[in-house]
Amino acid sequence: MPHSRIVGTGSYLPEKIVSNKDLEATIDTSDEWIRERTGIRCRHIAADDEKTSDMAVIAARRAIEAAGIDVQEIDLIVMATTTPDKIFPSTACIVQRKLGIEGGAAFDVQAVCSGFVYGLDIAHRFIKTGGAKTVLVIGAETMSRIVDWQDRSTAVLFGDGAGAVILQASEEEGIVSTHIHSDGSLEETLHVPYGVSQGYDAVCDGRAFIVMNGNTVFRKAVSMLGAIARETLDGNNIDKKDLDWLVPHQANMRIITAAAKKFGLPMERVVVTVDTHANTSAASIPLALDIAVRDGRIKRGELMLLEAFGAGLTWASALIRY
Ligand code: UT7
Repeated sequence: MPHSRIVGTGSYLPEKIVSNKDLEATIDTSDEWIRERTGIRCRHIAADDEKTSDMAVIAARRAIEAAGIDVQEIDLIVMATTTPDKIFPSTACIVQRKLGIEGGAAFDVQAVCSGFVYGLDIAHRFIKTGGAKTVLVIGAETMSRIVDWQDRSTAVLFGDGAGAVILQASEEEGIVSTHIHSDGSLEETLHVPYGVSQGYDAVCDGRAFIVMNGNTVFRKAVSMLGAIARETLDGNNIDKKDLDWLVPHQANMRIITAAAKKFGLPMERVVVTVDTHANTSAASIPLALDIAVRDGRIKRGELMLLEAFGAGLTWASALIRY
């Protein structure tokens, strides 16, 4: 059975940057509160006419170029997003059209902030079973469209962006293992409480925004990440000291620091982008990964752990020999 290996990464951030100071002008918050409680300094926000698929396509092109493959080699697109362009078709199909890919299959995955790692899990299994050879896995979000910009408890937390990887069948080991979990009983801890089947316009007048119990999500995130890290390392007989890198979901600096502490990993070995990207949901991990690959921190042969958590609640990890 072949291994599956990351052969290229890419990412994209919209041009517009909104700082904490900018938010001070519109809501009752402060740069100091946001930095102390979350570690966030600024976030990128998509232009009015910039869609999730536009950002996804740029990130995908960069990953394709880094991998040195022909775009027609891609036989599967797995797109993680909670902010699709349209109700249907899937944003993955829109990306397929924009990239000019003529064959294969494309579909979206909805696991909110864990979506990219869910996508990697699916892509990995397709490759292992011979269902696909070259998979484009994308995480892309326009979270700014589902944020209530008058609600200070959520408005300061999110940003927009996209990240992508090309995963390919290989003789060499790449993805060592993937782990995914969910607990639907925690649905209302973090959600956008409206949707198509409820008669969207009738119940919320088209205003469908994120509602979150931040304290509960925080506590659950720390315990879920601890548990999935143990599951991942124990399942592979790997000691935490063998890890070279932690690439965590970028939601809150305090959650990231707590996870690093559990591993005894110095912060130099943790990829952090939350300060300048904020929480880009499914895009956060592939964005962080691409940045650390391109600036030369993450090198071939190194062992990294990707860890995500999000609404659902969902949580997921991937142990990867890069
Ligand atoms: O991808 C998953 C997405 N979600 C998360 O990861 C969220 C996880 N949770 C968190 O990151 C944190 O819970 C938050 C950053 C959301 C909140 O931090 P906290 O330390 O848990 O603060 P808190 O909610 O307990 O609020 C403390 C105070 C409250 O005021 P009082 O009641 O003490 O007077 C809030 O009203 O801070 C107030 N507050 C703010 N103040 C200034 C809440 N938001 C703001 C704000 N600016 N933006």
